[in-house]
Amino acid sequence: MSTLTDRSIPTHSQARRYGLFVCLMAALAGLLFGLDIGVISGALPFIAKHFVLSDRYQEWIVSSMMVGAAIGALGAGWLSWRLGRRNALVLAAVLFIVGSLYSGVAGSPVHLIGARLVLGLAVGMASFTAPLYLSEVAPRHVRGAMISTYQLMITVGILAAFLSNIGLSYIADWRWMLGVIAIPAVFFLAGVLALPDSPRWLLQRNRAAEARSVLQRLYGNSADVQAELDQVNEDNTRPQKGWSLLRKNSNFRRSVLLGVVLQVFQQLTGINVVMYYAPRIFELAGYATHEQQLWATVIVGLVNVLATFGAIAFVDRWGRKPILYAGCAVMACGRCSLGVLLHVGVAGLTAQMLAVAALLLFIAGFAMSAGPLVWILCSEIQPQQGRDFGIAVSTLVNWVANMAVAATFLSLLSTVGEANTFVLYAVLNVVFAAVVFFYVPETRGVSLEKLGNDLMSGKRLRDLGKGQ
Ligand code: BGC
Repeated sequence: MSTLTDRSIPTHSQARRYGLFVCLMAALAGLLFGLDIGVISGALPFIAKHFVLSDRYQEWIVSSMMVGAAIGALGAGWLSWRLGRRNALVLAAVLFIVGSLYSGVAGSPVHLIGARLVLGLAVGMASFTAPLYLSEVAPRHVRGAMISTYQLMITVGILAAFLSNIGLSYIADWRWMLGVIAIPAVFFLAGVLALPDSPRWLLQRNRAAEARSVLQRLYGNSADVQAELDQVNEDNTRPQKGWSLLRKNSNFRRSVLLGVVLQVFQQLTGINVVMYYAPRIFELAGYATHEQQLWATVIVGLVNVLATFGAIAFVDRWGRKPILYAGCAVMACGRCSLGVLLHVGVAGLTAQMLAVAALLLFIAGFAMSAGPLVWILCSEIQPQQGRDFGIAVSTLVNWVANMAVAATFLSLLSTVGEANTFVLYAVLNVVFAAVVFFYVPETRGVSLEKLGNDLMSGKRLRDLGKGQ
């Protein structure tokens, strides 16, 4: 590919518009991720009725997507290196289309589980590749905001799925609920086909001329392009290592373990129990009709979106740890109140309203803290030479933990009881806060290089980034 001539160098505003387009298209992956998470709560009651399914079967229909996502996240590390980040996103988009259509026409529960596995592969690939691609193409000064925007897209996707569940519940057709996601998936495919390859990846594959041309379109200004090229070249002198670094270096093992622990605790908040089983929870809270349950679920989705803006606004002002403490406290209060209400019995309108308020409190706590912050921290704490590997492992664990929680929720309800299940999640929220206190570094305003150097020199995890 030829380099750009001076005549074709874009103006600053053209470059900005192009950068925005590229970032938005990649962040659309978050939207599909959210749609697929959100759709199942509305469709499940209809699917269960249609196929006359036991709780176990329902759990598998929900969690098969997570099995696929775990495999997809793991495979994406390799695929996005071999094919490039852009082509890995193209593949994910194709799988989104195939999986959505297949789930819409599935003739048996087993086929539905198969279709959700395919969707899972797509979600897993997208959830690893999109943030990585964004971090590689986004100009440095907006990189943090872009990762939060990706999380925002996830929440918007969940809300959109909840809304479409309502619309489609009037025709009581779960096939449409699942199949309709193929439409945004087609837009996503068209969008990612128009994306350039990641300049960082191109450089790693020794395709410097193409990398320069992509950077030129993204930055417009030749001086910025050169600065970025120098930075990337410097980073490339420290090649990405995975297993070998993990085996040999105990400092790297600490950051990988911290990423894993953070993702496990994000899932142990029980967020997806609400996302997947919200109508069922509202049924427990006394909302008898399916319509009431779906509307209450939409409010959950809306609070999830709005509270995420809170995180975006304050994460760089207050710092990561204070927001996580506040979020854990809010989540634990919400969970505990719901547990207590279910224990005394939710009878009457006031109690029903209180139950919804408790659930919303929990959601707001999650969306302002653990939702975006865990993804941000996981991408910040890995040292440069092991970043791809570290992020792939923590993303994989996010999905495995997601699946474990989803696959056990209905069984937990029937074995330990409704009230105790929610109190148990509240206790886990408190343990999460303790983990943050003892092990999580405050990364606000600290350069990734300093965090990486501190880690590799053996500093305590919670002290990374402190001092000179
Ligand atoms: C989590 C997902 C969750 C979503 C809810 C994400 O950060 O990883 O598991 O469904 O937030 O908004």
